[in-house]
Amino acid sequence: MPQEVSVPSAIERFVTGGLASMLIDGAFVPAVSSETFDTLNPATGQLLARLPAGDAPDVDRAVAAARRAFDDGPWSTMKPFDRQRIMLRFADLVESRHEDLAILDTLDMGAPIQRMRGNLRRAVGMARFYAGLTTALRGETITNSIPGDFHTQTLREPVGVVGAIIPWNNPHIAFIWKVGAALAAGCTVVLKPAEEASLSALWLGEMLLEAGLPDGVVNVVTGYGETAGAALSVHPGVDKIAFTGSTATGQAIVRAAAGTLKRVTLELGGKSPNIVFNDADLDLAVPGAAMAAFTNSGQVCSAGTRLFVERGIYNDFVQAMSSYTDALTVGNGLDDTTQLGPLVSQTQLERVTDYFDVGRAEGAAVYTGGARLTEGDYAKGYFVAPTIFTDVDNDMRVAKEEIFGPVVSVMAFDDYESVIKLANTSPFGLGGGVWTNDLTKATRTVGALRTGTVWVNCYGQMDPAVPFGGYRMSGYGREGGVEHVNEFLETKSVWTQTH
Ligand code: NAI
Ligand code: MG
Repeated sequence: MPQEVSVPSAIERFVTGGLASMLIDGAFVPAVSSETFDTLNPATGQLLARLPAGDAPDVDRAVAAARRAFDDGPWSTMKPFDRQRIMLRFADLVESRHEDLAILDTLDMGAPIQRMRGNLRRAVGMARFYAGLTTALRGETITNSIPGDFHTQTLREPVGVVGAIIPWNNPHIAFIWKVGAALAAGCTVVLKPAEEASLSALWLGEMLLEAGLPDGVVNVVTGYGETAGAALSVHPGVDKIAFTGSTATGQAIVRAAAGTLKRVTLELGGKSPNIVFNDADLDLAVPGAAMAAFTNSGQVCSAGTRLFVERGIYNDFVQAMSSYTDALTVGNGLDDTTQLGPLVSQTQLERVTDYFDVGRAEGAAVYTGGARLTEGDYAKGYFVAPTIFTDVDNDMRVAKEEIFGPVVSVMAFDDYESVIKLANTSPFGLGGGVWTNDLTKATRTVGALRTGTVWVNCYGQMDPAVPFGGYRMSGYGREGGVEHVNEFLETKSVWTQTH
């Protein structure tokens, strides 16, 4: 029998059906309108909490607080060393409470507790990585060639108030990622979490205050994308939007931001190619390719959802991957044996099951899966079987569109040139994988793929120090690494006449 993790007392207040508040200017408050919306546990359909339905007036208050904290201090006037100390204290709090944070996110969006626990190193590592960068920001001195005596240098200055909009697929990681980089740069933040999974953002906001972050530096406005998110994107008091989510919403944000020409970085969707050559180590590649697509029930922007397998191993590969897939344990994320949890919401469930029909109608074959799971306790939640489509053509919708469920489209290929062409035939360019023991072929493939990340004989690894982001319609800008903090900095050039 699987062991069910019990709900720790530290998070009881978020998950027992009560009314939560959002964080504005250091205080936990309801929406100006007093409106609320429900957030549910996707494994059981049970109410976790009622959240303030923030809208334009709440965004106004939060932006005013962030503006003041940026324009008048104390955040912008605080020495980097002092900002760093607060961020390191925050990292310690995240570390000591990570188990409870993991359970909170599992309850809120369904991912297996095993997976959430696996985020510990990354969550704490990110908080410390960005804390480290607060004291490492630097400009340049540059020689110039104009007549006379002039000294030229660049200063790096925080862009200002950041509107951070995050999705639900890895909530506490998304929060620390965006907020960490923005704070390292010296910015202040209004963050809007996804309506499907806002709870960890509220708790992390509280931890920041506990760590000594001054009021107004980070504000968390809960609410819907079309209201609170849209109000943030057009707000003249916001200098930059940092967004992660769907490509369609990314486009809406670019349009909304155009009015004030605020800076925008976008981490959007993908349809990432994963290429397995005949000579690949199948003991690695079979589970690797399955989990590249299925981990987090496929709710991963860089999921390897277009799987290209070389003809010589195609049949055996698909069969082995199907056996592996059928053995995966799908269930309530709180069971510590669960490998795949439910989808996040009824909406996502409908979206994914629609694609099962779309694929079949287009002529793809369901090799395994292809249905909602409805037996017993599954019926209460949003569970689907991990699904392999074969007989797929790269032009089919199931090979072109981001499904965001545990669905992989497998295609056979005959030669290197044709598979690279197919792999790059996509509006997206986020991730990519290649499996081969031929170093030359691997290196060639890395160079040929038009994607922001390529994994070689592995898939999905992430680290705070390593940049991540997309080519083409997968977005602009990079998150992770020093490049991420640069996205929150302006460059000021200074000319000084020295005679
Ligand atoms: P979404 O992109 O609409 O939501 C992400 C965030 O944007 C949420 O916080 C939401 O409230 C906010 N938002 C929505 N509309 C907005 C607007 N007009 N202005 C400002 N903010 C807005 O994604 P959603 O609806 O949750 O999922 C739909 C599909 O999007 C998924 O099936 C998946 O394909 C894709 N998606 C991709 C993600 C990724 O990491 N690449 C993450 C989440 C969704
Ligand atoms: Mg939820």
